[in-house]
Amino acid sequence: MSTTFQLDTATSRANPTPAPMKRLTVPAIRRRKKDGVTAEPIVMLTAYTARQAQLLDAHCDLLLVGDSLGQVIYGLPSSVPVTLDMMIAHGAAVVRGSYHAAVIVDMPFGSYEQSPQQAFENAARLLKETGCAGVKLEGGEAMAETVRFLNERGIPVMGHIGLTPQAVNVLGGYNARGRSEAEAAKIVADAQALDEAGAFSVVIEGVVEPIAIAATQAIACPSIGIGGSAQCDGQVLVTEDMLGMFERVPRFVKRYADMASVISEAAAQYAQQVRDRSFPGVEQTYQPK
Ligand code: KIV
Repeated sequence: MSTTFQLDTATSRANPTPAPMKRLTVPAIRRRKKDGVTAEPIVMLTAYTARQAQLLDAHCDLLLVGDSLGQVIYGLPSSVPVTLDMMIAHGAAVVRGSYHAAVIVDMPFGSYEQSPQQAFENAARLLKETGCAGVKLEGGEAMAETVRFLNERGIPVMGHIGLTPQAVNVLGGYNARGRSEAEAAKIVADAQALDEAGAFSVVIEGVVEPIAIAATQAIACPSIGIGGSAQCDGQVLVTEDMLGMFERVPRFVKRYADMASVISEAAAQYAQQVRDRSFPGVEQTYQPK
């Protein structure tokens, strides 16, 4: 599969082809943090479709094809049922729709926990079949051996600790982590274990702020916060959450738009025009050359 950015100029939905430019690489992202300081914070958003990727790409350093697509796209109750095939289909679409940001694809639940070998086999499929730059997987110390195994075999890995949604059945919900001393110490140890194993960055999700800061300071690679701290080396949000597509979002999400209302109002206007036959006729909307 070609990873070259190409738009389908045969359809009316194509954008003008953007000026060719080099995609950001994982080593370039990793180098943003130098001697514990990230002068230019890392911008990451989730993307699941080609058009979404086209719109977000120029603004982001990283596009994450998150397994949150289970809830956001497929209406599933959690990310647990998400499959590798779903991640491959959406990952390939996002790579096709972007040319600047490095694209990272989530390894779904059940595709990497069994052994480093299982993880390699499935991560290699993600890289080969989507053209993505790296993978993300959840878990700290328990996943360090797997992270090292993948990294040493050419697969860049982003870690994900704190509130790890794939473990919702063990955690019992989506509450913030790091409130007890033991939990806080474990989060910092998880970050260090992933860093030492070669993770190029670590997502710290749903962690009380002092622990998100402590974990960020304890690692050489950049941390990416989501419900952590503004002091993390970068930030990520689920795009649909920050666009205001859902009524219920995690408390830490800032809405930058109200897309749910925009879509609902547009659909209501269209429905009204169809029903009262004021919908524009062909001669008003289509001008043959
Ligand atoms: O699946 C996802 O979208 C994620 C981000 C929320 C970090 O893992």
